[in-house]
Amino acid sequence: MKEPSLSPLVGVPEPVTVRVPAKINLHLAVGGLRPDGYHDLVTVFQAVSLYDGVTATPARTLTLTVSGEGAPGLPADSRNLAWRAATLLAERTGVGPAVHLDLAKGIPVAGGLAGGSADAAGALVACDALWGTGLGRTELMELAAELGADVAFGLVGGTALGTGRGEHLTPVLAGGRWHWVLGVAHGGLSTPAVYQELDRLRAATDPEPDTEPAATYERSPAIDPAYGLINALRLQDVEQLGKLLANDLQPAALSLRPELRQTLRAAADLGALGAVVSGSGPTCALLARSEEHAVRLAAALAGAGVCRTVKVVTGPVGGARLVDAL
Ligand code: C5P
Repeated sequence: MKEPSLSPLVGVPEPVTVRVPAKINLHLAVGGLRPDGYHDLVTVFQAVSLYDGVTATPARTLTLTVSGEGAPGLPADSRNLAWRAATLLAERTGVGPAVHLDLAKGIPVAGGLAGGSADAAGALVACDALWGTGLGRTELMELAAELGADVAFGLVGGTALGTGRGEHLTPVLAGGRWHWVLGVAHGGLSTPAVYQELDRLRAATDPEPDTEPAATYERSPAIDPAYGLINALRLQDVEQLGKLLANDLQPAALSLRPELRQTLRAAADLGALGAVVSGSGPTCALLARSEEHAVRLAAALAGAGVCRTVKVVTGPVGGARLVDAL
């Protein structure tokens, strides 16, 4: 990791900026509700070329500002996961938390793209560099896992199989570039609300959840169904990947936001190889055959008028990284 550079004039560390990507879930199997309020997952994450920037500047106390997409709706205090990341790192290392964090949002807020987790991952890397804590990758990963289910993936990026709450990661070979169109909906969806809706839908089809597990799910989801998709990634079989995109949270997201069906229907009508709600939604990820196909698909989806905005992205990209400038 890059050492923080010292200003030649005053000996004060210069600000550091970290760029951190959004994620999409290509496969998301959700188990039953655990006693800690989480659900066991089997998921395949891919980091895509849509980024937030986190800049850490030396300051007297911990402060936070947010700019960019959706910034006015975001808290700039301890409710913000980036704030909690800086606090946790400071507690564990005994350094700081004398830092000003500035989040430059490029990832839509509450979109199922792990933007909040990305900011936490970015804050960990930025503060770690600024304070020169000397923590290794493993220790940062442990802190990330404490902060939230998707934060660890924000650190590593690429394509990975996630288990547990999503924080136990195994890299997945997904050579080449995959072309995606993101259909970003109006407004966001609360992740806990979508998981609760899934539990509600499952309970409704399982009248005696305490005696018999629902036929539709097990407490821990099986890993095997993810292997077909992992194989398609390894073989760079884009047609097969399109067919295997799957998300157990999709019925819950559609139940809360029925209009997302229009986006998924439009995706099929317009020739996407596959389409799926990403994570807890409401963003939908559409798979394209090539860069040129993605651009055409994005234009057609924008023309269909079912999304707030449409973005063309590629994956996999790397996780949180120090950069000279955004
Ligand atoms: O960890 P994160 O902050 O992303 O999770 C937000 C909420 O989403 C959790 O409080 C929980 O309600 C739900 N969640 C879950 N199971 C997971 C991940 C998230 O139930 N594996």
